[in-house]
Parts: sequence; structure tokens; C-alpha cells
Amino acid sequence: APGAQQFIPPQADTIDELRAAATGCQGCELYRDASQTVFGRGDESARLVLVGEQPGDMEDQKGLPFVGPAGRLLRRAVDDAGIDPGHLYLTNAVKHFRFELRGKRRIHQTPDRVHITACRPWLVAEFARLHPEVVVVLGATAAKALLGPAFRVTRQRGELLPWPASAQHPEDFTRVPVDNAGRVVDAPAARLLATIHPSAVLRADDQDKAYEGLVADLTVVARALA
Ligand code: URA
Ligand code: SF4
Repeated sequence: APGAQQFIPPQADTIDELRAAATGCQGCELYRDASQTVFGRGDESARLVLVGEQPGDMEDQKGLPFVGPAGRLLRRAVDDAGIDPGHLYLTNAVKHFRFELRGKRRIHQTPDRVHITACRPWLVAEFARLHPEVVVVLGATAAKALLGPAFRVTRQRGELLPWPASAQHPEDFTRVPVDNAGRVVDAPAARLLATIHPSAVLRADDQDKAYEGLVADLTVVARALA
């Protein structure tokens, strides 16, 4: 797969310009079956950036991230944690909906490593234009995109980690130092916290307990931002 890099205009200064360019991305095969690119949205000067997996069915139809059931749950958790919902930026590791057709139903499929890698230039380009103090990684896919394949959310969830960290992985996932125009990511002292994905809460046997865990992790973030 050629990846997203060639679709990113080096002269794009703003998230809006990136979003416009991303509508035409064909960096991997996911653009073919999905309805549209779902780019990040929110406050470009946000102190908090949350990174999910990929758009779901509803997001694919509306063209906006986190507008479906998982998004609703996430917004409730953010609110319950005491985080100001007006000052967030929300995005995903992969910008097209990956699904399998079963009859008329579109069933979510987790993106593969190739999709994460192909789409990662958009995420890097977003971070080059954002200035978060805290980055929240929601689930394994976002963790793979930002921290590499060895990171285990289950082992390190709820911990505030330094980010971008120094390189620990041969593929250098842990550093997001420059975008394709050579701009250094302006987040030298940011921190990162990994937690479960809101969809995992919806799938959990004990939803209340899973939800409480998500809120507890986000409360750590709220305190860090206070
Ligand atoms: N799940 C995600 O990871 N992102 C969305 O935008 C919606 C659901
Ligand atoms: Fe491009 Fe990402 Fe969509 Fe693949 S998933 S086509 S890399 S925007």
C-alpha cells in the first residue's frame, strides 16, 4: 500500500486544510468501500486530544468522528470525569470505516497493521498542528499508531506517560518528531494516557464496571489538566 503521505499537502498549515486534502486520500484500500474520510474535529488549540480507532457506521455516514453510540458514551465519560467538553480535539488512528458486509449489515472490522501504518501520516500531520498537553489513547489500535505494536493498554492503562517518548521501537513509533514538511511536532512536554476504547465498554460483560474504569482513567487526565 502506498500510504497517505503522498496525499498530504506540505503547505497545509491548518487542520481544515488537512481535512480537505484527506477527502481524496487513497493511501490504502479502505477508501473504496467506505462512504467518506472521517477526519479529526474539535478545538485546534485544545489542551486535550483523544485518539480512537476508526470511524464506525454512523461516523462513516455523517463524516464526523464519535457521533455514534461509542462517541455518546465517550462524551458522557468525559463529562463524568470533569473534563471541559468544549476544549477537546477528537480523532482516529484510521480515517476510513473498515467493515464486512453481512447481508445489508456493515459489521465493524478492526483495522490491520497495514491500515494503521498507511493512515499514520494523517495522524502525524494532525499532531504537528496541535499543541496538546495530554493525549488520550483509546484502545489498542490508537496505541499501536502512537506507541508501537509492543504497547499493552491492559498493562499501562491509566498511567500518565511522557510523550513523545524517546525512541524505543525500531519503527520509531514512539516519536512523532516531524510531519512531511519537516515541521517538528510542537508537543515536547506532553503526556499520554492509554485507556480502553468506549466500544469495549459497550461490549463488556459488566458495562457499569468497564464504564467506571474509563471514567477513573479520564479523571487522572482531568487532574493533570487542572
Ligand atoms: N470509534 C472510534 O474509535 N472512533 C469513532 O469515531 C467512533 C467510534
Ligand atoms: Fe487514506 Fe487512511 Fe483512508 Fe487509508 S484509511 S484511504 S490511508 S485516509
